[in-house]
Amino acid sequence: MKSILTFTLKRIRVIVFFIASVLFIQACSTTNEKSKEITFAKDIAPIIYKNCSPCHQKNSVGPFPLLSYRDVAKRAKMIATVTANRYMPPWPADASYSHFVDEKILSNHEIELIDKWVKEGCVMGDSSELPATPVFSNGSQLGIPDLVIKMDKPYKIKGDNLDRFLLMKLPYEIQRDTFIRAIEFIPGNSKLLHHMNGEMLRYEFDKKKNVFDGEKVVDVAEFPTVKDAYEKMKLANDDGSYPIMKLSVTNFLPGVLPNLYPEGIGGFFMSRKGAFFFKDIHYGPSPIDTSDQSQLNIFFGPGPLKRPTLELQMGTLGVSPIVPPLIIPPDSVKTFLTSYYVGTSISLLTINPHMHLLGKKFWAFAIAPAGDTIPLIKINKWDFRWQYFYTFKKMVKIPEGSTIYVYGTFDNTSQNPLNPFHPPRTISERDGSMRTTDEMFQFIITYLPYEPNDENISLEGKLK
Ligand code: HEC
Repeated sequence: MKSILTFTLKRIRVIVFFIASVLFIQACSTTNEKSKEITFAKDIAPIIYKNCSPCHQKNSVGPFPLLSYRDVAKRAKMIATVTANRYMPPWPADASYSHFVDEKILSNHEIELIDKWVKEGCVMGDSSELPATPVFSNGSQLGIPDLVIKMDKPYKIKGDNLDRFLLMKLPYEIQRDTFIRAIEFIPGNSKLLHHMNGEMLRYEFDKKKNVFDGEKVVDVAEFPTVKDAYEKMKLANDDGSYPIMKLSVTNFLPGVLPNLYPEGIGGFFMSRKGAFFFKDIHYGPSPIDTSDQSQLNIFFGPGPLKRPTLELQMGTLGVSPIVPPLIIPPDSVKTFLTSYYVGTSISLLTINPHMHLLGKKFWAFAIAPAGDTIPLIKINKWDFRWQYFYTFKKMVKIPEGSTIYVYGTFDNTSQNPLNPFHPPRTISERDGSMRTTDEMFQFIITYLPYEPNDENISLEGKLK
């Protein structure tokens, strides 16, 4: 009975969609001669090229290109819908709460322009007014790298339409400890590579003979414990102890340009022997067998810098406990808090909210000793797929004696379409929570000890 009903519903949906498409094609083909009319060339192309094309082109994750008039007019109605409901461009942070570098948000005015343009019949306009079509290279955005570290062989991805979340290591050995100014991740398979967050393992020279030993790629879900996976990858020193791990040294999300802090800020040492370690590299589903061979472009620089950045990790695996402990019973929607007392003034640069599939809302702010609230980030509709690292437009000062509060809400009901279990099960942090089906509630902050005038330093610079 249920399947007949869904089948009928599906058929009705197909018919409605078909009628809507016919009406829309007619709507789009009416011409409009008014002088103030909204045209693709003058009004719409600049919006699309800036906000959509970086992902909607052949070398990125968007399911179709949005580069030409034809590309856009063909899907005009759908584009009006996904922009009006702010499904696209994907940008989970609430822009009425806080702002960040390279925000991907359309203004209300831009959304209205798109809507009107579609209603007026998708006028092309004067092609001489059309801005140049953006060109996207699959190469470096930062210049010629000093060093390239590439996956030693392509990783084969089966055409089974499943998402993959893997651990991966890219070991290296160089002549001497070297200061790095920037790292850029270049996906080999830019259609499937959805997200990557990389750390760096620094081995003391004598403590590990061969950094190239061990598996380079593992699926942690196939191991009883995370430690077993690490052992298979031979991440430890020869004596079994673990090397220093520098967190969040590089990350990747489609359509995001590598960011670079102003002169004198950031960067770190790369030890003679080490490995980049991708704690979560996420490939989207593929219907065909394919592969990926990604690389890191490394840019050296003079160092050490005056102001190396520091990381503060709150919540899961971090310095501040989660209250109550992160256990989400089945059929419940539950909110958790983690808070941290800031003992000396700091300047925040970049923040990274992190939850898995059950995440629903994320909200972080600080309360200064004088009682005023410093907004950090509010995500009203958590989307697991868009785990941005949010860099503030200017550094944000958190004065000594403040407390940072982070609230996370998780939905473990069967109404959550991303719930991996039906019926829902108790979900918690477990064994480092490297599996997507376990949960995490984490807030990672990159910061500096505060110096006067920090709040006026712009972080919008890019290396060219
Ligand atoms: C950061 C990358 C990114 C940006 C920027 C982006 N998209 Fe997308 N878009 C995607 C991906 C990935 C999908 C596939 C569906 C999904 O993952 O939600 C998609 C899907 C779509 C769809 C299909 C939706 C559906 O229901 O099937 C439309 C239409 C669309 N995008 C339009 C746009 C428009 C218009 C813009 C700019 C205003 C834009 N996108 C910006 C990545 C992006």
